[in-house]
Amino acid sequence: MLEAFDFVLFGGAGDLALRKLIPGLFRAHRNGELPEGTRIIPTVRNTQAVEEYKSKVREAAQKHLNKNEFKDDAWDSFATILFPMAVDISTLDEKWKELAQLLNSGDNRQRVFYLSTPPSVFSAACKHLHESGLITKTSRVVVEKPLGYDAKTAEEINSSIAEYFDEHSIFRIDHYLGKEAVQNLLALRFANGIFENLWDARTVDNVQITISETVGLEGRAGFYDGAGALRDMVQNHILQLLCLVAMESPNKMTAERIRAEKLKVLESLRPLTGNTVRFNAVRGQYVTGQMDGVTVPGYLDELGSPSNTETFVAIRAHIDNSRWANVPFYLRTGKRMKQRFAEIVIQYKDVAHKVFPEAAGITTPNRLVIRLQPEESIKIIVTSKDLGKQEMKLSPVVLNLNLADAYKDYFSDAYKRLMLDAAANNPSLFIHRAEVDAAWAWIDPIIEAWQRPENKPHGYMAGTWGPIASAQLVGSDGRSWFNIDEVGVEDSQ
Ligand code: BG6
Repeated sequence: MLEAFDFVLFGGAGDLALRKLIPGLFRAHRNGELPEGTRIIPTVRNTQAVEEYKSKVREAAQKHLNKNEFKDDAWDSFATILFPMAVDISTLDEKWKELAQLLNSGDNRQRVFYLSTPPSVFSAACKHLHESGLITKTSRVVVEKPLGYDAKTAEEINSSIAEYFDEHSIFRIDHYLGKEAVQNLLALRFANGIFENLWDARTVDNVQITISETVGLEGRAGFYDGAGALRDMVQNHILQLLCLVAMESPNKMTAERIRAEKLKVLESLRPLTGNTVRFNAVRGQYVTGQMDGVTVPGYLDELGSPSNTETFVAIRAHIDNSRWANVPFYLRTGKRMKQRFAEIVIQYKDVAHKVFPEAAGITTPNRLVIRLQPEESIKIIVTSKDLGKQEMKLSPVVLNLNLADAYKDYFSDAYKRLMLDAAANNPSLFIHRAEVDAAWAWIDPIIEAWQRPENKPHGYMAGTWGPIASAQLVGSDGRSWFNIDEVGVEDSQ
C-alpha cells in the first residue's frame, strides 16, 4: 500500500506543472489516493513567487480542471499539503538547506523528485540533491521529455542523471503510456485469444498509427522549432505505441519483461538511412488554412522567421522479425490537422477468394480500430449482408465497443496515474534508458537525411490531412490512410 511520501516538484510554476501536474495531484488528493501526511513541495524561483504560488495554482487549476471538478473545499484541503519553496536549481545555497530541513523532518519517507524543467538543468538538480544529502535509498527521480536532441545528447543527459541515481530509481515519463486506452492495448492483446491469434504477418495487411492534432505552436516556438514533429512526437509517443502493438507477449507483466519486449521491437525496426529516407518518410509544414471555418496562420507566420522544421511526419516502417515480416507500419503525426485524434488501425488481409458476385458489392477488409483519444473506443469493421433485402447485398458495418459506456464513472488522467506509479515505485509505464537509446538510434539517420536540401518539408494547408506526399506514400503501396469518421460505415449500435 502506498505510504505518505514527499513529492518535490522542480519547476513548480512551469507550464506543465500548472496545466497537468498540479491538477493531477489535486485529483489524486480529492479521490483519496494520496496517503495522509503526503507533502507536495513545488519549487519556484524566488520568495515573491512563493507568496503568490497558492493563488496562482488555484487559478490555473480552475482553468485546467474539467467543469465541476473544482470545488472550493476540496481545493482548500489540497492547499494544506502544498509547501512551495524558493529554490534556485543551479546554485547550491541556503535554500537547499531549507529544503533539506523540510524533507528530513519527514521520518525517512519516500521521496519523489519530479524534474519538470528543461533538461539543461537536470544535471545541476541531481548534483545539488546529492550534495545536499537528499537522495536516500528510496528516492526516485522523474524526468520529462525531451530526453535529448539526438542519441548523443540523450546519452549525456542519461549519464548525468545516472551519476546520482541508479537506473531503477530513474522514471522517464512518456505521458502516452499513462493513458488508459494505451494500457488497455496490453489487455486487448494479451487477455483476448481472438485478437492475439490474429496479430501477425499471416493475417495483418498493414498497421496505421496516427496522432493528429489541431493545435499549432501554442506559444512553444522556442522549444518546438528546435525539435520538430519527429523528435517531439515520433521518437517517443509514436514509437512507444508501435512497441505496444508489435511486441511479443512478456512472460510476466512486470516492468522488466515489458520493457525487454519493447526494446526488441525498437531494435528490430528496419533502419531508414540516406536515400531510403526519401522513399519511406514524408515531412510537412503547415501553411495558412481554414480550421472550422476560421483562417489560421501558417507555421512560418506564427514563428516569424524562416524555418525547415517539420510539423508533420508520415513514415513507412518495417519491423524485421518473423511476426511482422513485410507488414508495413504507417506512422503519422502532425499539428494543425483536420481533426484531433489518436488511433491505431489494424487492417486485416482481404478474404483469399471472393465468393460473392460483384453485384453484391465489394467486401472491405476487416479492420480493428482502436481510438485512444479524444474518446476511447474499440471498433471492428466487418462486412455484413444488408438485412431485410431479398438479394444478397454486402456493406461494411461497425461493431462498436464504446469503452466510455462500459465504464461510466472512470476518468482518465495520464499524469496523475504516472505520478502515483512513481510514488508507488512501479516503473512498468516508464521508459528504460535502453529504449531511449534504441529509439534515437532509429531516428537519428532520418534527421540526418532531412538535412539534405532535397528533403525540405512539403507544405500542407492547416485544417487538412497533411501534404499530398503523405497520401502518396501509402498510395504507392496500393493502400490509403484510414479514418473511421470519414468512411461511410453503418454503426451497429
Ligand atoms: C507532447 C508534445 O509530448 O504531447 C506536444 O510535446 C503535443 O507537442 C502533446 O501537443 C500531445 O499530447 P496529447 O496528450 O494532448 O495528445
